Amino acid sequence: MLKFHKVSKIYPPDIRALNEVDFEVAPGEFISIVGQSGAGKSSMLRLMTGQDKPDEGDVFIEKLSIKDLTNEDLPFLRRKIGVVYQDIKLLPKKTVFENVAFAMEVGGYEASKIEHEVPKILELVGMEGRLDSFPAELSGGEKQRVAIARALAHKPILLLADEPTGNLDSINAWEIVQLLLKINHYGTTVVLATHARELVNSIKKRVVTLEHGRVASDEQHGRYRL
Ligand SMILES: Nc1ncnc2c1ncn2[C@@H]1O[C@H](COP(=O)(O)OP(=O)(O)O)[C@@H](O)[C@H]1O
Ligand SMILES: [Mg+2]
Repeated sequence: MLKFHKVSKIYPPDIRALNEVDFEVAPGEFISIVGQSGAGKSSMLRLMTGQDKPDEGDVFIEKLSIKDLTNEDLPFLRRKIGVVYQDIKLLPKKTVFENVAFAMEVGGYEASKIEHEVPKILELVGMEGRLDSFPAELSGGEKQRVAIARALAHKPILLLADEPTGNLDSINAWEIVQLLLKINHYGTTVVLATHARELVNSIKKRVVTLEHGRVASDEQHGRYRL
């Protein structure tokens, strides 16, 4: 479903953020990409979303080449992928319901479908009791749940999470990881980029460790060893 083939990403003048990365993700996997700050985790995720292009090699989402990505491919890619970040940007003047509904409107869904689906998605993330709350009324963990619901609104096959627990305390961080595991359990492939060692060690799924832009290890039931 997702493949990196000899991928290098070079930022000017000569920072090799990624160096000949080979990496494959099968449908249904849960993968943690770990490594210290600057190891290249976010660079990897930006290639998966098509925000960046590789300088060498190529990234494939299903059959789609990121190297050769055109504007016409972007809607296809957007439908396939949902993304959440450390920095949670909900629309402040919209309610929880409206934030998720808006993502579906942009995706071209019909109003009746949106009315029907949004409560179900918010129930999945445990926010069914807060449909009419505004973002300012939510805790960090609750905001991240809504952001995850929004990322799931168009039913992506792949959910990318870049340090989704970076601004959360350890209990909320743990709950967000549990939520990602539940989403994966229901069939969505999940790629979690994080430097949170304790969290990764508790997940007991595949761990890819980056060091200076290279894959230093790739293990099933892995641990964060750095
Ligand atoms: N837009 C950019 N311009 C220049 N250098 C960058 C840019 N983005 C990332 N880098 C560099 O690439 C390397 C990898 O960064 P990044 O992928 O953000 O790592 P991580 O997410 O693991 O902390 C770092 O050395 C970083 O300074
Ligand atoms: Mg990062």
